[in-house]
Amino acid sequence: MIFQIGLKQKWQSKMKTLVIYYSKTGNTKYMAEKIADEAKADIFEIQREKDIKSKGFMLYFRGGFESMTKRVPKLKQSDISIDDYDLIFIGTPVWAWNLNPATRAFLKSAKIKNKKIGLFCCCAGSCDSIIEEMKKHLEGNEILGDVKFIEPLKNDTESYVQKAKTWTKNIIDKASS
Ligand SMILES: Cc1cc2nc3c(=O)[nH]c(=O)nc-3n(C[C@H](O)[C@H](O)[C@H](O)COP(=O)(O)O)c2cc1C
Repeated sequence: MIFQIGLKQKWQSKMKTLVIYYSKTGNTKYMAEKIADEAKADIFEIQREKDIKSKGFMLYFRGGFESMTKRVPKLKQSDISIDDYDLIFIGTPVWAWNLNPATRAFLKSAKIKNKKIGLFCCCAGSCDSIIEEMKKHLEGNEILGDVKFIEPLKNDTESYVQKAKTWTKNIIDKASS
């Protein structure tokens, strides 16, 4: 038993972890930072070459249209090396019941394989459909769990931080066993 715990701790301390996220209005960024703190992970923000500048209604209109028509925008070049990591957390907002276009573009191009993965999303209501879409993009990986946060910057932020920490610990435990 003590031997097993020792092995698990050794693996946990060696495991390289990355948090990847896209965020437009800050919710997913905030939760990504909390998850990265808890997991002692590196963090990587997905960024579009040309971001949607609109706010309010026009952001919903343009973003919703791009999302529903499954646009794949160009992303800023990055030198992140996914192969260096064992466990990857990926977070995104929901846009018009769909995966956000920047996250879709990233998942299509990144070709992530043979990784342990935790998925998180921010939304105003339901994330279920996009979690399923992310899982399809991530076939060939081991999905260890998913969690949703409903507008965490507006609603009971501290309880969402606690939820994120507990969930992250749970994913790390699963990744180490
Ligand atoms: C263009 C657009 C479309 C959205 N569509 C949905 C939706 O279909 N369902 C939902 O629950 N929330 C929807 N939302 C709300 C966002 O998912 C939510 O505000 C999320 O917390 C934003 O994350 P961010 O602050 O990291 O960008 C939408 C937001 C935007 C900007």
